[in-house]
Amino acid sequence: MCGIVGYAGGRQASEVILKGLQRLEYRGYDSAGMALLNDDLELIKVRGKVRDLADLAEKHDPHGTVGIGHTRWATHGEPNDVNAHPHTGTHRQFALVHNGIIENYNVIRQDLEKKGHTFTGETDTEVLAHLIEEIHEMSDIDFYQAVQQALLQVEGTYGIAIVHKYHPDRIIVARKGSPLLIGVGDGEYFVASDASPVIEYTHKVVYLEDEEIAVITRDGYEVSTLKNVRLTKEVHELAMNLEQIEKGGFPHFMLKEIFEQGDTIGDCMRGRLIVDENRIQLGGLDGYVDRLCDARRVIIAACGTSWHSGLVGEYLFEYLARIPVEVEYASEFRYREQLIDEQDVMIVISQSGETADTLAALREAKRRGALVLGICNVVGSTIARETDAGVYTHAGPEIGVASTKAFTAQVTVLTMMAMLAGRHRKVLSDELMRELVRELRDVPARVRAILEDTSGIEKVARMFTYAPNFLYLGRSYNFPVALEGALKLKEISYIHAEGYPAAEMKHGPIALIDEHMPVVVIAATDHTNEKVVSNIEEVKARKGRIIAISSNGQSDVARLAEFNLSIPEIHDCLSPLLAVIPLQLLSYHIAVNRKCHVDQPRNLAKSVTVE
Ligand code: G6P
Repeated sequence: MCGIVGYAGGRQASEVILKGLQRLEYRGYDSAGMALLNDDLELIKVRGKVRDLADLAEKHDPHGTVGIGHTRWATHGEPNDVNAHPHTGTHRQFALVHNGIIENYNVIRQDLEKKGHTFTGETDTEVLAHLIEEIHEMSDIDFYQAVQQALLQVEGTYGIAIVHKYHPDRIIVARKGSPLLIGVGDGEYFVASDASPVIEYTHKVVYLEDEEIAVITRDGYEVSTLKNVRLTKEVHELAMNLEQIEKGGFPHFMLKEIFEQGDTIGDCMRGRLIVDENRIQLGGLDGYVDRLCDARRVIIAACGTSWHSGLVGEYLFEYLARIPVEVEYASEFRYREQLIDEQDVMIVISQSGETADTLAALREAKRRGALVLGICNVVGSTIARETDAGVYTHAGPEIGVASTKAFTAQVTVLTMMAMLAGRHRKVLSDELMRELVRELRDVPARVRAILEDTSGIEKVARMFTYAPNFLYLGRSYNFPVALEGALKLKEISYIHAEGYPAAEMKHGPIALIDEHMPVVVIAATDHTNEKVVSNIEEVKARKGRIIAISSNGQSDVARLAEFNLSIPEIHDCLSPLLAVIPLQLLSYHIAVNRKCHVDQPRNLAKSVTVE
């Protein structure tokens, strides 16, 4: 949540910052601001999007080659001009931007108020700014040391960047729990929450770790721990390119990302699905496969869409590898009585690799001795670095807040992991392995086939654009797909939707069905097909409007449904990879018809780095 960009170099900092904030806007977009160092400390901030900040900046015509910027997702204090970052102390000598939550801010604020500080807004960040000011003014330590001291006093999480008007050449940055990296250019240096603002200028980055602090100038950077131990950091080379983070002719990132799935699923399997040799090779798990296969049970922890892919993983691991699996919301797991130890394996799944709850679950499982494997998309992210081992999804940057290509890539990785474990445990036959390897190889082509003609989906979207509710039903591997379809609709079109296991419908949701209720039934799994057909009959008897996702061969489903969206036939256990595509598109087109902000839905953020 919240995006930070900072720049020190020879360019106009405001240009780099505004462009960078636009790229980070997926992390939050309720207010934005920047601080620039010139003869003075220039502050511009506004409620609204980065576009609004750019408009305001045009009027101010800000100058300066050193500065910081922020795009906010509100935690403490409503989104307004005052609560927007950057924040300053009473004497406005420095400006601070912050991502994360200072948990003990209230106690600190009360203490500072007694000492005469007055606050203009409600944010925890403003309290941190005043704390730094208080420490600096009341002692004889320099400003950098005051920042260090303040950070040692606060509880919670932070990624911060600070500029000070009497040190016009430098930015102080620090991190605990919220990601920050330094972009290493030639005569220019950057700081950012992720690599997207930096990639246009340099491919070299240094990742800050928790409780590290750095000073950045146009001539270089120095990193230390908060307790003053100087560090030599490894410089990483970024593999992404600028094209990947632009829309490439699509009206929205979400649509671009849906259409990329033919390629991204292929990229995810490249070098891992060895068709000729009928085997899977996952280099990231080398040395850990035995422990995975000997696990008493696998616990999958994740949030949001990643949790849904985890649910598909549960079915896959149990069917292909015969390993018991439990899937946990990371936010629940972290505060439960955790019965996990060294006999268990945890798999954490996260597109961003920064989700606070998933990270906390990972740390807790590690602390209790479990092996923790990761499935992440963002290379070098905190979760990817903290897991014992793992497999990247290689889906490329996902910018649309509603996750699409990350889901199919996660399910692809889980499928490959389950197949690998199944072979290793000798419970997956040669024959089935051969069939699945061939089928997996063909998934990208089948995804492209679905995407070739989306007119049927657009028609359904037009029919139901103003429906107030939707029900999504699926069984077995496609129950999680029903949940994912409902989530997509809620996220971007603000229509209430529920996902349910089809057979559970009769225990409650059936009461909701009347001639106005659209019911999306995913009927693409053969072994439960007859049962799903009965469920469809039950909906039809109550005049529900049935939209079916069925595979080409299922004529009985096509006959019963009012709208039938067919997908190519595929082995049951791979069907989520195809069945989810029409659902992503359905929610996309409904949201566009309703004129919703598809890539930046209200109240959401792509990367949730707070609890
Ligand atoms: C947010 C995003 C979702 C995502 C979830 C988990 O809620 O809006 O799209 O599924 O976080 O994120 P992660 O990066 O851990 O997969």
